[in-house]
Amino acid sequence: MIGVFDSGFGGLTILRDLQKSLPDYDFLYLGDNARAPYGSRSFETIYRYTLESVRELFKRGCPLVILACNTASARALRSIQQQVLPVEFPDRRVLGIVRPTAEEIGNFSRTGHIGIFATAGTVSSKSYLIEIEQFFPNLKVTQHACPMWVPIVECGERGTEGARFFVKKEVEALLREDPEIDTVLLACTHYPLLEAEIRSALPPRVRLVFQGDIVASKTVDYLKRHPEMDSRLSRGGKTSFLTSDTSKFFEKGAFLFGMKDISAESLTF
Ligand code: DGL
Repeated sequence: MIGVFDSGFGGLTILRDLQKSLPDYDFLYLGDNARAPYGSRSFETIYRYTLESVRELFKRGCPLVILACNTASARALRSIQQQVLPVEFPDRRVLGIVRPTAEEIGNFSRTGHIGIFATAGTVSSKSYLIEIEQFFPNLKVTQHACPMWVPIVECGERGTEGARFFVKKEVEALLREDPEIDTVLLACTHYPLLEAEIRSALPPRVRLVFQGDIVASKTVDYLKRHPEMDSRLSRGGKTSFLTSDTSKFFEKGAFLFGMKDISAESLTF
């Protein structure tokens, strides 16, 4: 199975695109719902929680794990890849979603000015700035943290006046900082659920970029380039779900993210 990890429900927006692009593969999704959100937690805590989840996915038979969470990718991926895998799991791989997005984002902009909406954890890690610099050194990148957006989604407040207020507030703040921005990246897996609010707050000339498509096509590409990994992945077109909260909690919340009629297994770390 391909393991897909997120702090909670947000990674389901990435999973959906992975399932579309790799319909024959089996996926095991783990949402650390009991400890979400990660966005405002310390580096040490995000690393510890993410590593525990990755270990669990390895234990359950995933040779490849995708951290479908920007906060975990930004704060935990490098340490896991450099310090844990070579020593404990030399034949397993963990991939994140920051780098594949950074490799593409500059191609969307004409003005060379882009904006990034993300959690406070992702913004302060500067991961996007560091990664984008390698591929598009002349791109002007403005990051903006939106601490209210994840709770709005998780509390089912999409489409309300309150949601529109908090989305407009952050969009205006970003564009005030750099009015030449013509491309905005949603670098938090929850944010695609606020698409309607974000689109109506953005001027029509600004393009909105979602990560799901990018991550899915980069994963397809990765598997083509790594047949030794590809051959270890099971094919049955099945997706299973794990959560650190209760099954009922996950199944109900996943519904908000468009996953209907699923059943989740509850685990404790
Ligand atoms: N899924 C996380 C991300 O993409 C956001 C949710 C959280 O703060 O835990 O950054």
